[in-house]
Amino acid sequence: MRPSAERSRPAGRRQVLVPFLLSLFGGALPDQIHYSIPEELATNSVVGNLAKDLGFHVRDLPARKLRVSGEKEYFTVNQESGDLLVSGRIDREQICGKKPLCVLDFDAVAENPLNIFHVAVLVQDINDNTPVFKQNHIDLKIVESSQPGSAFPLDPALDSDAGPNSLQRYHLNDNEYFDLLEKQTPDGRKYPELILKHSLDREEQNYHQLVLRAVDGGDPPQSGTTQIRIQVTDANDNPPVFSQDLYRVSLREDMPPGTSVLQVTATDQDEGVNAEITYSFHNVDEQVAHFFHLDERTGEITTKDYLDFEVANSYTLRLEAKDPGDLAAHCSIQVDIVDENDCAPEVTVTSVFSPLPEDAPRGTVIALIKTRDRDSGENGEVYCRVFGDGEFKLKSSSKNYYKLVTDGVLDREQIPQYNITITATDRGKPPLSSSTSITLHIADVNDNAPAFHEASYVVHVAENNPPGASIAQVSASDPDLGPNGHISYSIVATDLEPQALSSYVSVSEQSGVVFAQRAFDHEQLRTFKLTLQARDQGSPALSANVSLRVLVDDLNDNAPRVLYPMLGPDGSALFDTVPRAAQPGYLVTKVVAVDPDSGHNAWLSYHVLQASEPGIFSLGLRTGEVRTARALGDRDAARQRLLVAVRDGGQPPLSATATLLLVFADSLQEALPDLSDRPAPSDPQAELQFYLVLALTLISVLFLLAVTLAIAMRLRRSSSPASWGCIQPRLSSKSGPGVLPNYSEGTLPHSYNLCIASQSAKTEFNFLSVSPGSVPTQDLLCDDASWAPSTNHGDTGVPFASDTILEVSFTYFDYFHFAF
Ligand SMILES: *[C@@H]1O[C@H](CO)[C@@H](O)[C@H](O)[C@H]1NC(C)=O
Ligand SMILES: *[C@@H]1O[C@H](CO)[C@@H](O)[C@H](O)[C@H]1NC(C)=O
Repeated sequence: MRPSAERSRPAGRRQVLVPFLLSLFGGALPDQIHYSIPEELATNSVVGNLAKDLGFHVRDLPARKLRVSGEKEYFTVNQESGDLLVSGRIDREQICGKKPLCVLDFDAVAENPLNIFHVAVLVQDINDNTPVFKQNHIDLKIVESSQPGSAFPLDPALDSDAGPNSLQRYHLNDNEYFDLLEKQTPDGRKYPELILKHSLDREEQNYHQLVLRAVDGGDPPQSGTTQIRIQVTDANDNPPVFSQDLYRVSLREDMPPGTSVLQVTATDQDEGVNAEITYSFHNVDEQVAHFFHLDERTGEITTKDYLDFEVANSYTLRLEAKDPGDLAAHCSIQVDIVDENDCAPEVTVTSVFSPLPEDAPRGTVIALIKTRDRDSGENGEVYCRVFGDGEFKLKSSSKNYYKLVTDGVLDREQIPQYNITITATDRGKPPLSSSTSITLHIADVNDNAPAFHEASYVVHVAENNPPGASIAQVSASDPDLGPNGHISYSIVATDLEPQALSSYVSVSEQSGVVFAQRAFDHEQLRTFKLTLQARDQGSPALSANVSLRVLVDDLNDNAPRVLYPMLGPDGSALFDTVPRAAQPGYLVTKVVAVDPDSGHNAWLSYHVLQASEPGIFSLGLRTGEVRTARALGDRDAARQRLLVAVRDGGQPPLSATATLLLVFADSLQEALPDLSDRPAPSDPQAELQFYLVLALTLISVLFLLAVTLAIAMRLRRSSSPASWGCIQPRLSSKSGPGVLPNYSEGTLPHSYNLCIASQSAKTEFNFLSVSPGSVPTQDLLCDDASWAPSTNHGDTGVPFASDTILEVSFTYFDYFHFAF
């Protein structure tokens, strides 16, 4: 029965209980929040605003995830308002029994940052229980000879409420013979005792009826009643008498069932049947009946079960001894249970915050640990230890509560998981202990940047590589997990043209393989540098750079190139003159060649392949210098030809050839005739012209002879007229097998000019446009100045071009035609 008036009392009043609680917990709860509520509050009644009392802002509540750890059946936290709500029936009598103070201790856990707060809710009693007597009536037998002042103990009434609401007083209805006295058992329970005021007279009144009322201290008070029926018996009987009113016994809690506790004896002065006393428990609670057995004949009390100090530390047994005349005597036995260290401490891990980020700062709470030891005194004093490598420690948070916090730097890459063992030991002798293990997983944080396996990379790539070939691979590692350790590669900088980069190289994002995008040419690009980046996918991402130098190695892909002597623009060769008086070792000329390759591939050597007269000249193997090997003699041919090979040092070597034309002469004039019989120029046009001119010359000479002869004949005919016919054979015999044209009737040409190439005519040489170091390739001989080529040809220094010669030829043909 719970009065509704009590329940409608406004809930959630936060009462300042600190002085009260401090005395209770001895100041061991420095950071505890206290509330006080009446028992039996309706579900969802507000106990108090926990968030506000902890100093949280309402807006932070979703992030802080404030919640109740332990005692979940009684309280919850409203996530929106932060109110602490009642979530189940709180019956003080059920939770705390007869304990004068009923406190519910629990933890409130908040995250971000993790913290634990201790909350104590004092459950106040309400007067929801009425005092109740076990029986509706109590039957007593009292000897008529009992002296006034004799006491008769009665069963107490029971009231589960505590404190002021518990049973306070007994009342007896007004009567002539009896008074009521309130007494207390050693364990503090009140019981009524009936006291005889006057002597009873059975003959006058052998039966009395009384009403006993028990009243509690509630407001309003509640009460229960029982009837007492008293029978007055004859005086012949003597009641039994206990040797003591109160016996005290101590008993160790670990005694096995059947252990004898005590044997009580009551004596009766009667004899025979009347002295046969029977013992029984009187007014005992169920606990006593459960644990103790009373031999009703001998009065020996034995245990029926293991006694547990932790359940009850003492029992009060009330015994009644009755003789056959129903006369009774009472005594009390207090059995004190002696605590043994029979309970190992219990360790409970209430909350584990796993996985824990590896960057959790020192002092981060990982778990909340609760210890309990049901023993009392030193046997129940528990201390906790954590076994580990010093990364963790226990912080005593309040009595029996520990926080397991980090005490070092965690690194998932080294230890991804911890098995933490917590051992609780009590201070009993011998101590008992128990332990529990927590598996703590460490969560990865992107705290490692990728690291390249080498500080920098250098690769050699032979030139002329196929485009698309892989030329290098960089690799980095990142010990972090998942995306935090997933690396991708890219090129972030280069000394190439940034726009051109993609046409040179690319890098595989996944593998770090560097690909050439084109064939490299050592002669164009000897080296380039790339800065490659390895980047993980964490948030924020971490990266590392490494430099990669690509050296394009030379291949012998270029043949030497001869710079001197060079063929002229028309393919003709130049010549060098050597004075005939040159001493041995005279530097004639030097073959100059280059090779764009490098190293051995460009290390040139010079070799004579062919010499028209071996032994005259020596060729410097490395220098290409042509020197005379001996003094020149008159018998040495004036023209010498040297075929020189220029070879590089590659594998295999490449080579080029050069032809040196050397002329022994003291001057150019002397040298030139020798030059005329050199091999015909390769130009077929010029060759044709040459023969044409030669033919014309011959014809002209013949013609001149013929004309001369004709004139001579005519002059002779004036003296001897028949001479014409004989000229012809002479002419023909003189001129060889050539056919002489018959122009006897024709008119002679008046005049003509003749221009011939210098094949046989030993006339004057006329060097046109001779520039130092170069020798004209085509020398023309003109016996008439009017036949000189146009001046612009001569001034530009270009040797005669073939069209000039052609022009000459046609002019000549015109004359020829005219002449015929
Ligand atoms: C932790 O315990 C588990 C299971 O008992 C075991 O597999 C693991 O190796 C232990 N780890 C360490 C670091 O001792
Ligand atoms: C890598 O190089 C890039 C480009 O030069 C630069 O922006 C970045 O800061 C570098 N990163 C590191 C980790 O050095």
